Amino acid sequence: MLRRNAGFRLVAMGFMPIVCMMLMAGCEAIQPPECATDADCAEGQVCTSGVCTDAPGPECVEDADCAEGQVCDDDGVCVEAPEEPLHKTLITDYQGTQTCLTCHSEHATDIMQTGHWNWGGAVDNIAGLEGEDHGKVDLINDY
Ligand code: HEC
Repeated sequence: MLRRNAGFRLVAMGFMPIVCMMLMAGCEAIQPPECATDADCAEGQVCTSGVCTDAPGPECVEDADCAEGQVCDDDGVCVEAPEEPLHKTLITDYQGTQTCLTCHSEHATDIMQTGHWNWGGAVDNIAGLEGEDHGKVDLINDY
């Protein structure tokens, strides 16, 4: 009798850690998630699979943060630089239309041959200008 009891106790004690581990694992599994959305986490953290983790920072802030031939876009991601030069690198001193004309004079003379530029006609609904000839040609295009 005594021997059987001792044996039982030994076996039971041997199983205790296993039973405990199983219980603990069970507890962990039924723990509610730390977060459901980013709003449940602290500032600068995001909710990933129910856990708050530090939000990944932007890949870049300026072009210099990116590899050769890449630029930093508005979302903080490095992208292949467009083949055409960016105007922000071309224009340092903006003086209105004149600034654009230094490089785009051909475009300017081209568009001045179009109806978009030359449209006009007798005015009948602009107070003070009734009966005169006006239109985009003199009222809108060259501001
Ligand atoms: C230092 C030269 C330079 C200046 C100044 C400049 N550009 Fe450009 N621009 C370019 C180049 C080079 C291109 C790319 C080649 C092309 O499309 O002709 C371009 C392209 C463009 C395009 C695209 C054309 C297309 O076919 O897709 C637009 C629109 C444009 N420029 C508008 C402007 C405006 C508006 C200004 C004035 C605020 C200006 N640019 C000033 C050099 C210049």
